[in-house]
Amino acid sequence: MAYRRLSSLLSGSFSASSNSAAYLLSLGRNSNFGGGISRFSTAASLEAPITPSVQINHTQLLINGQFVDSASGKTFPTLDPRTGDVIAHVSEGDAEDVNRAVAAARKAFDGGPWPKMTAYERSRIIYRSADLIEKHNDEIAALETWDNGKPYEQAAKIEVPMLTRLLRYYAGWADKIHGLTVPADGPYHVQTLHEPIGVAGQIIPWNFPLLMYAWKIGPALACSNTVVMKTAEQTPLSALYVSNLLHEAGLPPGVLNVVSGYGPTAGAAVASHMDVDKVAFTGSTATGKIISELASKSNLKPVTFELGGKSPFIVCEDADVDQAVELAHFALFFNQGQCCCAGSRTFVHERVYDEFVEKAKARAMKRVVGDPFKTGVEQGPQIDSTQFEKILNYIRSGIESGATLETGGERVGTKGFYIQPTVFSNVQDGMKIATEEIFGPVQSILKFKNLDEVIKRANTSPYGLAAGVFTKDIGTANNLMRALRVGTVWINCFDTFDAAIPFGGYKMSGHGREKGIYSLNNYLQVKAVVSPVDNAAWL
Ligand code: NAI
Ligand code: MG
Repeated sequence: MAYRRLSSLLSGSFSASSNSAAYLLSLGRNSNFGGGISRFSTAASLEAPITPSVQINHTQLLINGQFVDSASGKTFPTLDPRTGDVIAHVSEGDAEDVNRAVAAARKAFDGGPWPKMTAYERSRIIYRSADLIEKHNDEIAALETWDNGKPYEQAAKIEVPMLTRLLRYYAGWADKIHGLTVPADGPYHVQTLHEPIGVAGQIIPWNFPLLMYAWKIGPALACSNTVVMKTAEQTPLSALYVSNLLHEAGLPPGVLNVVSGYGPTAGAAVASHMDVDKVAFTGSTATGKIISELASKSNLKPVTFELGGKSPFIVCEDADVDQAVELAHFALFFNQGQCCCAGSRTFVHERVYDEFVEKAKARAMKRVVGDPFKTGVEQGPQIDSTQFEKILNYIRSGIESGATLETGGERVGTKGFYIQPTVFSNVQDGMKIATEEIFGPVQSILKFKNLDEVIKRANTSPYGLAAGVFTKDIGTANNLMRALRVGTVWINCFDTFDAAIPFGGYKMSGHGREKGIYSLNNYLQVKAVVSPVDNAAWL
Protein backbone atom coordinates (compact mmCIF):
# COMPACT_ATOMS: atom_id res chain seq x y z
CA MET A 1 0.00 0.00 0.00
CA ALA A 2 1.47 3.33 -1.02
CA TYR A 3 1.44 5.94 1.69
CA ARG A 4 2.33 9.51 1.03
CA ARG A 5 4.84 10.96 3.45
CA LEU A 6 2.73 13.05 5.71
CA SER A 7 5.48 15.30 6.93
CA SER A 8 5.97 16.67 3.43
CA LEU A 9 2.35 17.79 3.37
CA LEU A 10 2.51 19.82 6.54
CA SER A 11 3.43 23.44 6.65
CA GLY A 12 7.10 23.74 7.58
CA SER A 13 8.02 20.07 7.44
CA PHE A 14 10.52 18.56 9.82
CA SER A 15 12.46 15.38 10.13
CA ALA A 16 10.25 12.98 12.01
CA SER A 17 12.35 10.02 13.00
CA SER A 18 14.85 11.26 15.50
CA ASN A 19 16.17 9.46 18.53
CA SER A 20 13.33 9.52 21.01
CA ALA A 21 15.28 8.41 24.02
CA ALA A 22 17.87 11.14 23.58
CA TYR A 23 15.10 13.65 22.99
CA LEU A 24 13.27 12.65 26.13
CA LEU A 25 16.32 12.43 28.29
CA SER A 26 17.37 15.88 27.22
CA LEU A 27 14.20 17.28 28.73
CA GLY A 28 15.67 17.01 32.17
CA ARG A 29 18.72 19.05 31.39
CA ASN A 30 17.69 21.48 28.75
CA SER A 31 15.12 24.10 29.46
CA ASN A 32 14.61 25.05 25.82
CA PHE A 33 12.57 22.09 24.68
CA GLY A 34 9.29 23.89 24.52
CA GLY A 35 9.33 24.79 20.84
CA GLY A 36 7.90 28.01 19.44
CA ILE A 37 7.12 30.85 21.76
CA SER A 38 3.96 32.76 20.98
CA ARG A 39 0.66 33.46 22.71
CA PHE A 40 -1.75 30.50 22.49
CA SER A 41 -3.65 30.23 19.25
CA THR A 42 -6.73 32.22 18.52
CA ALA A 43 -9.90 30.54 17.36
CA ALA A 44 -9.36 31.63 13.76
CA SER A 45 -6.34 29.41 13.22
CA LEU A 46 -8.30 26.36 14.40
CA GLU A 47 -11.17 26.74 11.95
CA ALA A 48 -9.44 24.94 9.08
CA PRO A 49 -7.72 21.85 10.46
CA ILE A 50 -5.02 20.23 8.33
CA THR A 51 -6.31 16.98 6.87
CA PRO A 52 -3.73 14.22 7.06
CA SER A 53 -3.47 12.10 3.95
CA VAL A 54 -2.66 8.89 5.78
CA GLN A 55 -4.84 6.02 4.63
CA ILE A 56 -6.92 4.09 7.15
CA ASN A 57 -6.79 0.47 6.12
CA HIS A 58 -7.70 -1.36 9.30
CA THR A 59 -10.96 -0.76 11.08
CA GLN A 60 -11.98 -4.36 11.71
CA LEU A 61 -11.10 -6.51 14.69
CA LEU A 62 -7.89 -8.50 14.44
CA ILE A 63 -8.61 -12.07 15.51
CA ASN A 64 -6.50 -15.10 14.74
CA GLY A 65 -4.36 -13.13 12.30
CA GLN A 66 -7.36 -11.96 10.24
CA PHE A 67 -9.22 -8.67 10.08
CA VAL A 68 -12.87 -9.54 10.70
CA ASP A 69 -16.17 -7.80 11.35
CA SER A 70 -17.60 -7.95 14.85
CA ALA A 71 -20.00 -10.81 15.50
CA SER A 72 -22.87 -8.36 15.92
CA GLY A 73 -21.91 -6.41 12.79
CA LYS A 74 -21.93 -3.23 14.89
CA THR A 75 -19.44 -0.40 14.47
CA PHE A 76 -18.59 2.69 16.50
CA PRO A 77 -17.19 6.02 15.36
CA THR A 78 -13.75 7.20 16.34
CA LEU A 79 -13.50 10.98 16.43
CA ASP A 80 -11.02 13.68 15.54
CA PRO A 81 -10.55 15.67 18.79
CA ARG A 82 -9.75 18.81 16.76
CA THR A 83 -13.33 18.98 15.48
CA GLY A 84 -15.38 16.18 17.00
CA ASP A 85 -15.91 14.86 13.43
CA VAL A 86 -15.90 11.15 12.65
CA ILE A 87 -12.59 9.83 11.29
CA ALA A 88 -13.75 6.26 10.69
CA HIS A 89 -16.25 3.65 11.83
CA VAL A 90 -14.57 0.77 13.59
CA SER A 91 -15.93 -2.73 14.23
CA GLU A 92 -17.30 -2.83 17.75
CA GLY A 93 -16.24 -5.90 19.65
CA ASP A 94 -18.16 -7.23 22.63
CA ALA A 95 -18.39 -10.46 24.63
CA GLU A 96 -18.76 -12.76 21.60
CA ASP A 97 -15.75 -11.24 19.86
CA VAL A 98 -13.73 -11.53 23.05
CA ASN A 99 -14.73 -15.21 23.20
CA ARG A 100 -13.40 -15.69 19.66
CA ALA A 101 -10.21 -13.79 20.39
CA VAL A 102 -9.59 -15.75 23.59
CA ALA A 103 -10.21 -19.03 21.75
CA ALA A 104 -7.62 -18.02 19.13
CA ALA A 105 -5.13 -16.95 21.80
CA ARG A 106 -5.70 -20.17 23.73
CA LYS A 107 -5.11 -22.28 20.65
CA ALA A 108 -1.95 -20.34 19.77
CA PHE A 109 -0.69 -20.83 23.31
CA ASP A 110 -1.69 -24.46 23.97
CA GLY A 111 -1.04 -25.94 20.56
CA GLY A 112 0.39 -23.20 18.42
CA PRO A 113 3.96 -22.43 17.51
CA TRP A 114 4.57 -19.43 19.78
CA PRO A 115 5.61 -20.97 23.11
CA LYS A 116 7.17 -23.90 21.23
CA MET A 117 9.34 -21.73 19.01
CA THR A 118 12.92 -21.24 20.08
CA ALA A 119 13.38 -18.07 22.09
CA TYR A 120 15.73 -16.79 19.40
CA GLU A 121 13.05 -17.16 16.72
CA ARG A 122 10.56 -15.26 18.88
CA SER A 123 13.13 -12.59 19.48
CA ARG A 124 13.75 -12.21 15.75
CA ILE A 125 10.05 -11.75 14.98
CA ILE A 126 9.84 -8.97 17.57
CA TYR A 127 12.98 -7.32 16.16
CA ARG A 128 11.53 -7.51 12.65
CA SER A 129 8.31 -5.93 13.90
CA ALA A 130 10.30 -3.02 15.31
CA ASP A 131 12.07 -2.56 11.97
CA LEU A 132 8.74 -2.41 10.12
CA ILE A 133 7.30 0.05 12.61
CA GLU A 134 10.35 2.25 12.21
CA LYS A 135 9.86 2.21 8.45
CA HIS A 136 6.27 3.41 8.88
CA ASN A 137 7.06 5.84 11.70
CA ASP A 138 5.46 8.92 10.12
CA GLU A 139 2.24 7.25 8.97
CA ILE A 140 1.71 5.71 12.40
CA ALA A 141 2.41 9.07 14.05
CA ALA A 142 -0.10 10.77 11.74
CA LEU A 143 -2.75 8.21 12.60
CA GLU A 144 -2.07 8.75 16.28
CA THR A 145 -2.29 12.52 16.07
CA TRP A 146 -5.48 12.33 14.07
CA ASP A 147 -7.16 9.93 16.48
CA ASN A 148 -5.76 11.34 19.72
CA GLY A 149 -4.99 15.03 19.09
CA LYS A 150 -1.40 14.98 20.36
CA PRO A 151 1.16 17.13 18.54
CA TYR A 152 2.46 15.30 15.48
CA GLU A 153 6.02 16.30 16.31
CA GLN A 154 5.71 14.46 19.63
CA ALA A 155 4.00 11.43 18.10
CA ALA A 156 6.66 11.19 15.39
CA LYS A 157 9.69 11.98 17.52
CA ILE A 158 8.75 10.43 20.84
CA GLU A 159 5.84 8.02 20.90
CA VAL A 160 6.38 5.94 17.79
CA PRO A 161 10.19 5.76 18.16
CA MET A 162 9.65 4.69 21.77
CA LEU A 163 7.30 1.96 20.62
CA THR A 164 10.10 0.75 18.34
CA ARG A 165 12.65 1.03 21.14
CA LEU A 166 10.45 -0.86 23.60
CA LEU A 167 9.89 -3.71 21.18
CA ARG A 168 13.64 -3.99 20.59
CA TYR A 169 14.22 -3.97 24.33
CA TYR A 170 11.80 -6.87 24.77
CA ALA A 171 13.12 -8.70 21.72
CA GLY A 172 16.43 -8.62 23.58
CA TRP A 173 14.87 -10.25 26.63
CA ALA A 174 13.10 -13.06 24.76
CA ASP A 175 16.16 -15.34 24.73
CA LYS A 176 17.46 -14.40 28.17
CA ILE A 177 14.65 -15.69 30.35
CA HIS A 178 15.57 -18.73 32.42
CA GLY A 179 15.25 -20.24 35.85
CA LEU A 180 17.66 -21.09 38.65
CA THR A 181 19.27 -24.07 40.31
CA VAL A 182 18.34 -23.94 43.99
CA PRO A 183 20.23 -25.40 46.98
CA ALA A 184 17.92 -27.41 49.28
CA ASP A 185 18.32 -28.98 52.75
CA GLY A 186 18.42 -32.56 51.56
CA PRO A 187 19.49 -34.90 48.79
CA TYR A 188 17.51 -33.20 46.05
CA HIS A 189 18.19 -31.55 42.77
CA VAL A 190 15.96 -28.45 42.68
CA GLN A 191 15.46 -26.14 39.75
CA THR A 192 12.98 -23.52 38.70
CA LEU A 193 11.41 -23.18 35.28
CA HIS A 194 10.22 -19.68 34.35
CA GLU A 195 7.13 -20.33 32.27
CA PRO A 196 4.61 -18.07 30.53
CA ILE A 197 1.26 -17.58 32.25
CA GLY A 198 -0.83 -18.25 29.14
CA VAL A 199 -3.43 -15.93 27.63
CA ALA A 200 -2.89 -12.34 28.77
CA GLY A 201 -5.84 -9.93 28.66
CA GLN A 202 -4.67 -6.33 28.28
CA ILE A 203 -6.85 -3.22 28.54
CA ILE A 204 -5.28 0.09 27.62
CA PRO A 205 -6.24 3.80 27.70
CA TRP A 206 -6.17 6.57 25.10
CA ASN A 207 -3.55 9.02 26.39
CA PHE A 208 -0.48 7.17 25.03
CA PRO A 209 -2.13 4.50 22.90
CA LEU A 210 1.09 3.13 21.44
CA LEU A 211 3.24 3.31 24.54
CA MET A 212 0.59 1.55 26.58
CA TYR A 213 0.35 -1.03 23.81
CA ALA A 214 4.12 -1.59 23.86
CA TRP A 215 4.40 -1.70 27.66
CA LYS A 216 1.81 -4.48 27.60
CA ILE A 217 2.54 -6.62 24.55
CA GLY A 218 6.34 -6.31 24.88
CA PRO A 219 6.83 -8.36 28.05
CA ALA A 220 3.86 -10.63 27.28
CA LEU A 221 5.30 -11.69 23.92
CA ALA A 222 8.92 -11.83 25.14
CA CYS A 223 7.80 -14.31 27.81
CA SER A 224 5.90 -16.28 25.10
CA ASN A 225 2.37 -15.57 26.26
CA THR A 226 -0.45 -14.89 23.82
CA VAL A 227 -2.53 -11.72 24.01
CA VAL A 228 -6.05 -10.37 23.75
CA MET A 229 -5.73 -6.59 23.66
CA LYS A 230 -8.70 -4.27 24.27
CA THR A 231 -7.81 -0.79 23.05
CA ALA A 232 -9.48 2.42 24.19
CA GLU A 233 -12.64 3.34 22.32
CA GLN A 234 -11.28 6.86 21.71
CA THR A 235 -8.12 5.64 19.95
CA PRO A 236 -8.55 2.29 18.21
CA LEU A 237 -6.67 2.99 14.97
CA SER A 238 -2.93 2.87 15.67
CA ALA A 239 -2.92 -0.51 17.44
CA LEU A 240 -4.72 -2.11 14.49
CA TYR A 241 -2.16 -0.67 12.08
CA VAL A 242 0.82 -1.71 14.18
CA SER A 243 -0.54 -5.16 14.97
CA ASN A 244 -0.88 -5.78 11.25
CA LEU A 245 2.83 -4.99 10.90
CA LEU A 246 3.64 -7.53 13.63
CA HIS A 247 1.88 -10.15 11.54
CA GLU A 248 3.77 -9.04 8.46
CA ALA A 249 6.93 -9.58 10.50
CA GLY A 250 5.96 -13.21 11.06
CA LEU A 251 3.89 -13.28 14.24
CA PRO A 252 1.79 -16.46 14.03
CA PRO A 253 -2.03 -16.12 13.95
CA GLY A 254 -3.74 -15.98 17.33
CA VAL A 255 -0.69 -14.75 19.26
CA LEU A 256 -1.87 -11.13 19.29
CA ASN A 257 -5.58 -10.37 18.93
CA VAL A 258 -6.94 -6.83 19.01
CA VAL A 259 -10.55 -6.19 19.98
CA SER A 260 -11.71 -2.59 19.67
CA GLY A 261 -14.78 -1.65 21.68
CA TYR A 262 -16.14 -0.18 24.87
CA GLY A 263 -15.10 -0.87 28.45
CA PRO A 264 -18.27 -2.23 30.05
CA THR A 265 -18.78 -4.66 27.13
CA ALA A 266 -15.49 -5.73 25.52
CA GLY A 267 -13.26 -4.68 28.43
CA ALA A 268 -15.40 -6.39 31.06
CA ALA A 269 -15.54 -9.55 28.92
CA VAL A 270 -11.72 -9.70 28.89
CA ALA A 271 -11.45 -9.09 32.65
CA SER A 272 -14.03 -11.73 33.54
CA HIS A 273 -13.16 -14.40 30.99
CA MET A 274 -12.49 -17.83 32.51
CA ASP A 275 -9.89 -18.65 29.91
CA VAL A 276 -7.86 -15.45 30.30
CA ASP A 277 -5.01 -16.27 32.66
CA LYS A 278 -3.97 -12.77 33.62
CA VAL A 279 -5.10 -9.21 33.09
CA ALA A 280 -3.10 -6.00 32.83
CA PHE A 281 -4.82 -2.64 32.89
CA THR A 282 -3.91 1.03 32.66
CA GLY A 283 -6.56 3.65 33.30
CA SER A 284 -8.61 5.18 36.08
CA THR A 285 -8.58 3.87 39.63
CA ALA A 286 -12.38 3.55 39.49
CA THR A 287 -12.23 1.24 36.47
CA GLY A 288 -9.29 -0.60 38.06
CA LYS A 289 -11.54 -1.51 40.98
CA ILE A 290 -14.20 -2.89 38.62
CA ILE A 291 -11.61 -4.94 36.75
CA SER A 292 -10.15 -6.24 40.00
CA GLU A 293 -13.59 -7.44 41.05
CA LEU A 294 -14.32 -9.07 37.68
CA ALA A 295 -10.93 -10.80 37.75
CA SER A 296 -11.40 -12.17 41.24
CA LYS A 297 -15.03 -13.19 40.76
CA SER A 298 -14.21 -15.19 37.64
CA ASN A 299 -11.04 -17.28 37.82
CA LEU A 300 -9.05 -15.22 40.34
CA LYS A 301 -6.64 -14.22 37.58
CA PRO A 302 -3.68 -12.12 38.68
CA VAL A 303 -3.86 -8.43 37.78
CA THR A 304 -1.33 -5.72 37.04
CA PHE A 305 -2.59 -2.18 37.46
CA GLU A 306 -1.24 1.20 36.48
CA LEU A 307 -3.85 3.66 37.67
CA GLY A 308 -4.26 7.34 38.45
CA GLY A 309 -1.97 9.82 40.13
CA LYS A 310 -1.71 13.22 41.75
CA SER A 311 2.03 13.56 41.62
CA PRO A 312 3.85 16.22 43.63
CA PHE A 313 6.50 18.33 41.92
CA ILE A 314 8.61 19.88 44.67
CA VAL A 315 10.58 23.05 43.99
CA CYS A 316 13.07 23.54 46.85
CA GLU A 317 14.39 26.88 48.07
CA ASP A 318 17.77 26.46 46.35
CA ALA A 319 16.22 25.87 42.93
CA ASP A 320 17.12 27.85 39.84
CA VAL A 321 13.67 29.33 39.38
CA ASP A 322 13.75 29.64 35.59
CA GLN A 323 14.72 26.00 35.15
CA ALA A 324 12.22 24.88 37.77
CA VAL A 325 9.43 26.79 36.05
CA GLU A 326 10.22 25.20 32.70
CA LEU A 327 10.41 21.69 34.11
CA ALA A 328 7.28 22.07 36.22
CA HIS A 329 5.49 23.40 33.14
CA PHE A 330 6.57 20.37 31.14
CA ALA A 331 5.71 18.01 34.03
CA LEU A 332 2.12 19.21 34.00
CA PHE A 333 1.30 20.31 30.46
CA PHE A 334 3.01 17.56 28.43
CA ASN A 335 0.49 15.56 26.36
CA GLN A 336 -2.27 18.12 27.04
CA GLY A 337 -1.91 17.31 30.74
CA GLN A 338 -3.23 13.82 30.02
CA CYS A 339 -0.52 11.91 31.89
CA CYS A 340 -1.12 9.55 34.77
CA CYS A 341 2.10 10.80 36.33
CA ALA A 342 1.57 14.53 35.58
CA GLY A 343 3.21 16.79 38.18
CA SER A 344 -0.20 18.09 39.16
CA ARG A 345 0.64 19.41 42.61
CA THR A 346 3.40 21.97 42.14
CA PHE A 347 4.78 22.59 45.67
CA VAL A 348 7.02 25.67 45.76
CA HIS A 349 9.14 26.83 48.71
CA GLU A 350 7.92 30.14 50.13
CA ARG A 351 11.25 31.86 49.43
CA VAL A 352 10.90 31.44 45.67
CA TYR A 353 7.11 31.17 45.50
CA ASP A 354 6.17 34.65 44.22
CA GLU A 355 8.81 34.66 41.52
CA PHE A 356 7.84 31.12 40.52
CA VAL A 357 4.14 31.94 40.20
CA GLU A 358 4.81 34.97 38.05
CA LYS A 359 7.12 33.03 35.73
CA ALA A 360 4.89 29.93 35.59
CA LYS A 361 2.02 32.16 34.52
CA ALA A 362 4.16 33.81 31.82
CA ARG A 363 5.33 30.41 30.55
CA ALA A 364 1.77 29.07 30.34
CA MET A 365 0.67 32.17 28.43
CA LYS A 366 3.37 31.50 25.86
CA ARG A 367 2.34 27.89 25.35
CA VAL A 368 1.45 27.28 21.71
CA VAL A 369 -2.01 25.74 21.45
CA GLY A 370 -3.26 24.80 18.02
CA ASP A 371 -3.80 22.22 15.32
CA PRO A 372 -1.49 19.38 16.40
CA PHE A 373 -0.42 18.82 12.80
CA LYS A 374 1.19 22.28 12.71
CA THR A 375 4.90 22.57 13.38
CA GLY A 376 5.74 24.25 16.67
CA VAL A 377 2.41 23.47 18.32
CA GLU A 378 2.94 22.34 21.91
CA GLN A 379 -0.64 21.56 22.86
CA GLY A 380 -3.48 20.05 20.86
CA PRO A 381 -7.06 19.34 21.91
CA GLN A 382 -8.14 17.15 24.83
CA ILE A 383 -9.23 13.67 23.83
CA ASP A 384 -13.03 14.02 23.86
CA SER A 385 -16.02 16.00 25.06
CA THR A 386 -16.24 14.05 28.33
CA GLN A 387 -12.68 14.92 29.33
CA PHE A 388 -13.11 18.47 28.03
CA GLU A 389 -16.20 19.06 30.22
CA LYS A 390 -14.59 17.35 33.19
CA ILE A 391 -11.54 19.64 33.01
CA LEU A 392 -13.67 22.80 32.67
CA ASN A 393 -15.63 21.66 35.73
CA TYR A 394 -12.41 21.31 37.70
CA ILE A 395 -11.41 24.81 36.63
CA ARG A 396 -14.76 26.14 37.88
CA SER A 397 -14.26 24.25 41.12
CA GLY A 398 -10.79 25.82 41.54
CA ILE A 399 -12.25 29.30 41.13
CA GLU A 400 -15.16 28.60 43.48
CA SER A 401 -12.91 27.16 46.17
CA GLY A 402 -10.85 30.36 46.26
CA ALA A 403 -7.67 29.48 44.36
CA THR A 404 -6.26 32.35 42.28
CA LEU A 405 -6.73 31.88 38.54
CA GLU A 406 -3.50 33.33 37.15
CA THR A 407 -4.18 32.59 33.49
CA GLY A 408 -6.38 30.47 31.21
CA GLY A 409 -9.58 28.85 32.36
CA GLU A 410 -11.51 28.90 29.07
CA ARG A 411 -11.84 26.82 25.95
CA VAL A 412 -9.86 27.83 22.88
CA GLY A 413 -11.91 28.29 19.71
CA THR A 414 -15.45 27.10 19.14
CA LYS A 415 -14.83 23.64 17.70
CA GLY A 416 -13.10 20.59 19.11
CA PHE A 417 -11.75 20.16 22.61
CA TYR A 418 -9.03 22.78 23.04
CA ILE A 419 -8.49 24.29 26.51
CA GLN A 420 -6.30 27.24 27.47
CA PRO A 421 -3.20 26.42 29.51
CA THR A 422 -4.43 27.24 32.99
CA VAL A 423 -2.50 28.13 36.14
CA PHE A 424 -3.87 28.38 39.67
CA SER A 425 -1.85 29.79 42.57
CA ASN A 426 -2.77 29.86 46.27
CA VAL A 427 -4.02 26.30 45.99
CA GLN A 428 -4.77 24.64 49.35
CA ASP A 429 -4.35 20.93 50.08
CA GLY A 430 -8.03 20.15 50.58
CA MET A 431 -9.28 21.69 47.32
CA LYS A 432 -10.60 19.32 44.67
CA ILE A 433 -8.03 20.59 42.17
CA ALA A 434 -5.32 19.53 44.64
CA THR A 435 -6.71 16.10 45.44
CA GLU A 436 -8.38 14.71 42.31
CA GLU A 437 -6.88 13.77 38.95
CA ILE A 438 -7.79 16.56 36.49
CA PHE A 439 -6.03 15.01 33.49
CA GLY A 440 -5.82 18.31 31.66
CA PRO A 441 -3.75 21.48 31.19
CA VAL A 442 -4.34 22.87 34.68
CA GLN A 443 -1.39 23.63 36.95
CA SER A 444 -2.02 23.97 40.69
CA ILE A 445 0.69 25.78 42.68
CA LEU A 446 0.94 25.30 46.46
CA LYS A 447 3.30 27.03 48.91
CA PHE A 448 5.42 25.22 51.52
CA LYS A 449 7.79 26.28 54.31
CA ASN A 450 10.06 23.31 55.06
CA LEU A 451 10.92 19.78 53.95
CA ASP A 452 9.19 17.86 56.75
CA GLU A 453 5.99 19.70 55.98
CA VAL A 454 6.15 19.15 52.23
CA ILE A 455 6.95 15.43 52.64
CA LYS A 456 3.87 15.00 54.79
CA ARG A 457 1.67 16.96 52.41
CA ALA A 458 3.06 15.27 49.30
CA ASN A 459 2.34 11.86 50.83
CA THR A 460 -1.20 12.82 51.87
CA SER A 461 -2.83 11.35 48.81
CA PRO A 462 -4.43 8.01 48.03
CA TYR A 463 -2.18 7.99 44.98
CA GLY A 464 1.54 7.23 44.84
CA LEU A 465 2.60 7.10 41.23
CA ALA A 466 5.48 9.56 40.82
CA ALA A 467 7.13 12.70 42.17
CA GLY A 468 9.44 15.40 40.88
CA VAL A 469 12.12 16.99 43.04
CA PHE A 470 13.96 20.13 42.00
CA THR A 471 17.02 20.94 44.10
CA LYS A 472 20.79 21.38 43.87
CA ASP A 473 21.33 19.90 47.33
CA ILE A 474 22.28 16.21 47.38
CA GLY A 475 21.14 15.86 50.99
CA THR A 476 17.70 17.21 50.17
CA ALA A 477 17.49 14.92 47.14
CA ASN A 478 18.51 11.88 49.20
CA ASN A 479 16.03 12.71 51.90
CA LEU A 480 13.10 13.25 49.54
CA MET A 481 13.77 10.23 47.32
CA ARG A 482 13.39 7.98 50.36
CA ALA A 483 10.54 9.79 52.07
CA LEU A 484 8.17 10.05 49.11
CA ARG A 485 5.81 7.07 48.87
CA VAL A 486 5.71 6.80 45.10
CA GLY A 487 6.86 4.41 42.37
CA THR A 488 9.14 6.90 40.57
CA VAL A 489 11.11 9.90 41.82
CA TRP A 490 12.52 12.16 39.10
CA ILE A 491 15.25 14.43 40.46
CA ASN A 492 15.92 17.52 38.33
CA CYS A 493 14.13 15.87 35.42
CA PHE A 494 10.62 14.61 34.74
CA ASP A 495 8.88 12.06 32.52
CA THR A 496 12.20 10.42 31.71
CA PHE A 497 10.90 7.17 30.28
CA ASP A 498 13.25 4.51 29.11
CA ALA A 499 12.50 0.91 28.23
CA ALA A 500 14.70 -0.27 31.10
CA ILE A 501 13.28 1.98 33.85
CA PRO A 502 10.48 0.30 35.81
CA PHE A 503 7.24 2.23 36.18
CA GLY A 504 4.27 1.69 38.47
CA GLY A 505 2.46 2.88 41.53
CA TYR A 506 2.41 2.75 45.29
CA LYS A 507 -0.94 2.88 47.09
CA MET A 508 -3.99 3.33 44.84
CA SER A 509 -1.86 4.11 41.80
CA GLY A 510 -1.65 0.41 41.17
CA HIS A 511 0.55 -2.60 41.60
CA GLY A 512 3.12 -4.44 39.55
CA ARG A 513 5.79 -2.69 37.50
CA GLU A 514 5.88 -2.18 33.77
CA LYS A 515 9.03 -1.78 31.65
CA GLY A 516 12.44 -2.96 32.69
CA ILE A 517 13.36 -6.33 34.14
CA TYR A 518 10.53 -6.14 36.69
CA SER A 519 7.86 -6.21 34.00
CA LEU A 520 8.75 -9.79 33.11
CA ASN A 521 7.47 -10.98 36.50
CA ASN A 522 3.95 -10.07 35.43
CA TYR A 523 4.05 -12.52 32.55
CA LEU A 524 5.93 -15.44 34.05
CA GLN A 525 5.18 -18.05 36.61
CA VAL A 526 7.73 -20.09 38.44
CA LYS A 527 7.63 -23.86 38.48
CA ALA A 528 9.75 -25.64 41.09
CA VAL A 529 11.08 -29.00 39.94
CA VAL A 530 12.46 -31.35 42.58
CA SER A 531 14.11 -34.73 42.12
CA PRO A 532 16.11 -36.89 44.53
CA VAL A 533 19.84 -37.25 44.12
CA ASP A 534 21.06 -40.74 44.98
CA ASN A 535 24.58 -40.00 46.03
CA ALA A 536 24.63 -37.39 48.80
CA ALA A 537 28.32 -36.87 48.19
CA TRP A 538 27.36 -34.89 45.10
CA LEU A 539 25.60 -32.23 47.17
P1 NAI B 1 -11.06 4.35 31.98
O1 NAI B 1 -10.16 3.84 33.05
O2 NAI B 1 -12.51 4.11 32.21
O3 NAI B 1 -10.65 3.67 30.57
C1 NAI B 1 -9.43 3.05 30.31
C2 NAI B 1 -9.68 1.72 29.60
O4 NAI B 1 -10.51 0.90 30.41
C3 NAI B 1 -10.40 1.86 28.25
O5 NAI B 1 -9.91 0.89 27.36
C4 NAI B 1 -11.83 1.53 28.63
O6 NAI B 1 -12.61 1.07 27.55
C5 NAI B 1 -11.63 0.44 29.67
N1 NAI B 1 -12.78 0.25 30.56
C6 NAI B 1 -13.66 1.19 30.99
N2 NAI B 1 -14.61 0.62 31.77
C7 NAI B 1 -14.32 -0.71 31.84
C8 NAI B 1 -14.91 -1.82 32.48
N3 NAI B 1 -16.03 -1.70 33.21
N4 NAI B 1 -14.35 -3.03 32.35
C9 NAI B 1 -13.22 -3.18 31.62
N5 NAI B 1 -12.62 -2.17 30.97
C10 NAI B 1 -13.14 -0.94 31.09
O7 NAI B 1 -10.75 5.86 31.77
P2 NAI B 1 -11.56 7.01 30.99
O8 NAI B 1 -13.02 6.96 31.29
O9 NAI B 1 -11.16 6.96 29.56
O10 NAI B 1 -10.96 8.31 31.69
C11 NAI B 1 -11.42 8.69 32.98
C12 NAI B 1 -10.28 9.17 33.84
O11 NAI B 1 -9.37 8.11 34.05
C13 NAI B 1 -9.44 10.28 33.24
O12 NAI B 1 -10.01 11.53 33.44
C14 NAI B 1 -8.16 10.12 34.00
O13 NAI B 1 -8.29 10.76 35.24
C15 NAI B 1 -8.06 8.63 34.22
N6 NAI B 1 -7.18 7.97 33.24
C16 NAI B 1 -5.96 7.56 33.68
C17 NAI B 1 -5.08 7.01 32.79
C18 NAI B 1 -3.73 6.57 33.20
O14 NAI B 1 -2.81 6.56 32.38
N7 NAI B 1 -3.54 6.11 34.43
C19 NAI B 1 -5.39 6.87 31.36
C20 NAI B 1 -6.74 7.26 31.02
C21 NAI B 1 -7.57 7.80 31.95
MG1 MG C 1 -10.28 9.35 18.32
